[in-house]
Amino acid sequence: MEFRLLPGGTVTGEARVPGDKSMSHRSIMLGALAEGTTRVTGFLEGEDALATLGAFRAMGVEIERHGAGEVVVHGVGLHGLKPPSQALDLGNAGTGMRLMAGLLAGQPFDAELTGDASLCSRPMGRVITPLESMGAKIDASEGGRPPLRIHGGRQLQGIHYDLPMASAQVKSCVLLAGLYAQGRTSVTEPAPTRDHTERMLRGFGYQVSNHDGVIGLEGGGRLLACNIDVPGDISSAAFFLVAASIAPGSDLLLNHVGINPTRIGVLNILREMGADITLKNQREVGGEPVADIRVRYAPLHGIEIPEDQVPLAIDEFPALFIAAACAEGRTVLRGAEELRVKESDRIAAMAEGLTTLGIANEILPDGIIIDGGTLGGGEIRTFMDHRIAMAFAIAALRAQGEILVHDCDHVATSFPGFDALARGLGLQISVQREEA
Ligand code: S3P
Repeated sequence: MEFRLLPGGTVTGEARVPGDKSMSHRSIMLGALAEGTTRVTGFLEGEDALATLGAFRAMGVEIERHGAGEVVVHGVGLHGLKPPSQALDLGNAGTGMRLMAGLLAGQPFDAELTGDASLCSRPMGRVITPLESMGAKIDASEGGRPPLRIHGGRQLQGIHYDLPMASAQVKSCVLLAGLYAQGRTSVTEPAPTRDHTERMLRGFGYQVSNHDGVIGLEGGGRLLACNIDVPGDISSAAFFLVAASIAPGSDLLLNHVGINPTRIGVLNILREMGADITLKNQREVGGEPVADIRVRYAPLHGIEIPEDQVPLAIDEFPALFIAAACAEGRTVLRGAEELRVKESDRIAAMAEGLTTLGIANEILPDGIIIDGGTLGGGEIRTFMDHRIAMAFAIAALRAQGEILVHDCDHVATSFPGFDALARGLGLQISVQREEA
């Protein structure tokens, strides 16, 4: 599938983006391991979260889907999972694989985790190392890549782990393995990362402490079912925050978006670039802060992106690079080497597309320099990465010519219905089948 975009347009109206991907994965995992019935609303019915849902069904958990983001999970308790009869396929989802590696390390049975070509090229050594020091046994392919074969029946021991990189997936993996470990498991992180696992564990009645940045829990407790209302994903909202910011005349309201402080780097960075963003109706829903976000067109200027914002905006850089391309002056990003091991090498992939559109940029080992300018049209490669596809779709709002974005199928992993929503808000986007 490819996106064809006519240049120009204005972004106006009101919308709700699909549910948060990180929370949707976690709602299934914790709901499955809880005692009792967990009702989830706002669940992201994208391929990634559905792969996690499928994996738990394959381990004997009854999960009902009622449509429109409503899911009912009949929890089996921490020790109620059944051995899967075949490999668990997590598709494109790094979160699914890394968090489940932690949970499965503590089970009495063996399990294999696999995924698509992109996921099978991503590093898993970052979770294998701490899990092995807890006593897990995991076989991986060359270079610590999936498939992962996780050997069950091993009593895990609690550890303290200093995360070498700011990764919520690694933090969550260790904490979830800690549920099955003897004693205390704790982590420290080089910079704060999204804390949905900690918040949701508490929502399920599990004590998680955070003393001066040491995040810990005791093994051997219980999870008690609860109801979860998943807010809109700020990572999906980000494309429209940038879209409205760069397209003159735009005025957009995005309703019910999660604004967890560990996720709002995109708001902070855009505001520093001059964006006109206001938060309305701020409230707390199920332990997570939520707001309606209004964004109006404003001329942007280039900035040096503060490094402390990088982990708080880690998934939003493809969209932010388009903002930088439309800004006046130079934007510099450093300290973002993690972007190289996402669904694609997002620095290389974005640099290639920006160059195609005539935007001067320089790749750094840990970031990029982008000089704002005039965007032309052209054909874009996405490297099968959903966020690269959506970023170049919104770029068309300021392009001089048509943009053709190849390989857009993976958009469905995080943002089903992106093209329809974008069209409704003013993008001139059409979808066509790619010729073989
Ligand atoms: C996620 C953590 C981040 C993020 C990913 C979702 C999570 O990955 O990029 O999209 O749900 O924990 P890292 O842990 O690799 O930074």
